[in-house]
Amino acid sequence: MTDLFALREAITQEFSAAALWFGHGAESAADEAHWLVCHVAGLPFSTDISMIADNTVTAEQLEQIQVLAQRRISEQTPLAYLLGEAWFAGHPWFIDENVLVPRSPFAELIAGRFEPWFVAYEPGTILDMCTGSGCIGIATALEFPRSVVHISDISPAALAIAQRNVVRHGVGDRVQVIESDLFANIEGRFDLIVSNPPYVSQLEYDQLPVEYHREPALGLLAGGDGLSLVLPMLEQAAGYLNDTGWLIVEVGNSAELLADCYPKIPFDWLEFEYGGDGVFALSKAQLLALSKPL
Ligand SMILES: C[S@@+](CC[C@H](N)C(=O)[O-])C[C@H]1O[C@@H](n2cnc3c(N)ncnc32)[C@H](O)[C@@H]1O
Repeated sequence: MTDLFALREAITQEFSAAALWFGHGAESAADEAHWLVCHVAGLPFSTDISMIADNTVTAEQLEQIQVLAQRRISEQTPLAYLLGEAWFAGHPWFIDENVLVPRSPFAELIAGRFEPWFVAYEPGTILDMCTGSGCIGIATALEFPRSVVHISDISPAALAIAQRNVVRHGVGDRVQVIESDLFANIEGRFDLIVSNPPYVSQLEYDQLPVEYHREPALGLLAGGDGLSLVLPMLEQAAGYLNDTGWLIVEVGNSAELLADCYPKIPFDWLEFEYGGDGVFALSKAQLLALSKPL
């Protein structure tokens, strides 16, 4: 029997000594070691470090942890893919290599119930476009239990995972999964459209650490400049929003280039307590006033 705290320490040292990149659901070697030992021991990732010394693993679990740790190091595959699971917005998600590992700062907006945009009323209809694993749309549905949520993606393989997450979180009666190239198959109007689309430029993609290249390029790359998804989204979104509706989109490092394309739009770039940037909110009225990009 080995206690989880000692194991966590040993694996933290192994991960720290290896050429690994952290940021796919865990922020550091210690964070990722914690996630690994808790997962195999059947504990949530959020289990406090002070609690794990009281837990031991069996010889079989110990071997499983060691094999997974060695694979993480030798393959440089994000831990979420090795475990088939990731944590986002406080919930567990089925994950495989057809979807990005959830890590969006949208988690903070969801926890804050999309204030200040939805204080007086709750969004009744929500669209999560480019949903991948479904994490943003389904977590939002869990936060607003009376809402109807559509989650869409162009990738059937990603949507198969999203559908499993719909079932896992028991929201099948009000979360609809739609295969769609941006708005092509989307019908109706929404109070809130959220999206974390691909927004990485080719130059940035080529320089990313190995772990990112284990993820589907379809989920990251957005043309040469990183804007090939967000520009049509900005042009079409107003037609799918109710009059008081909001579009909230993550564009990461492409924020500056996007702002340059629309010099007259006062993008509201959101600030996050727990990290992340490049997320903007625009009302339907602001979208209607959008001038064509230069
Ligand atoms: C950055 S990932 C985001 C996944 C998820 N929302 C998250 O935050 O983890 C972008 C997603 O956009 C999807 N996608 C790429 N091109 C698309 C398109 N033209 N229309 C709809 N979805 C698209 C990809 O399949 C991928 O799942």
